[in-house]
Amino acid sequence: MKITYYGHATFGVEVNGKHLLFDPFITYNELATQVDVNTIPADYIFLSHGHQDHIADAVAIAKRTGATVVSSFEIVDWVGKQGIANVHPMNTGGKKTFDFGWIKCTVAQHSSSFPDGSYAGNPMGFIVSTSDKTFYYAGDTALTLDMQLVPKWAKLDVALLPIGDNFTMDYKDAAMAADFVECNKIVGLHYDTFGYIKIDHKTAVEYFKEKGKELILLPIGESISI
Ligand code: NI
Ligand code: MN
Repeated sequence: MKITYYGHATFGVEVNGKHLLFDPFITYNELATQVDVNTIPADYIFLSHGHQDHIADAVAIAKRTGATVVSSFEIVDWVGKQGIANVHPMNTGGKKTFDFGWIKCTVAQHSSSFPDGSYAGNPMGFIVSTSDKTFYYAGDTALTLDMQLVPKWAKLDVALLPIGDNFTMDYKDAAMAADFVECNKIVGLHYDTFGYIKIDHKTAVEYFKEKGKELILLPIGESISI
């Protein structure tokens, strides 16, 4: 499985020959100017919630690639009204098997509205389980005891967790989340993009190391194989 970081909360995951894309926000990300939004591959686009910094490029990429958009009923309805026919609506607690493996939508403690302020359903995260690797993409969320349920459903190889504080949990809470989900390999997301969420990388990485965990902060545009 190959994980590519496109900045902010945007990841591409290549697994079992399919390209999964999470929360595409590239065009308006000043830190991601080296990423070409027009060449990012996608067979599936997962959207954790309706905030602009998670869905800004979703419709354009879905149009270009024909990818299936998977998200809450409300978000799928919203992309559908913009001409995207290839969609799959879900909600928190739901599980669905696709051609790459299965996904389960998890509870995220956050909010979810569209850029115009209208209701976008419940925010969510995703457990993605495949015959290759299994991972958890938490989305924007506070630390929540709900995360203790994750290992009851899946044995994770890696967890993608927000660490930027202010709008989500910080890196210390993310280390606790790593305990809850029983996974010591963490890839950070939702940090540095805006002034509110700038973090000191070294401090965060060292904190994880002290706890016997690994925090991976991928440079934008770079990939790791797991
Ligand atoms: Ni958000
Ligand atoms: Mn966000």
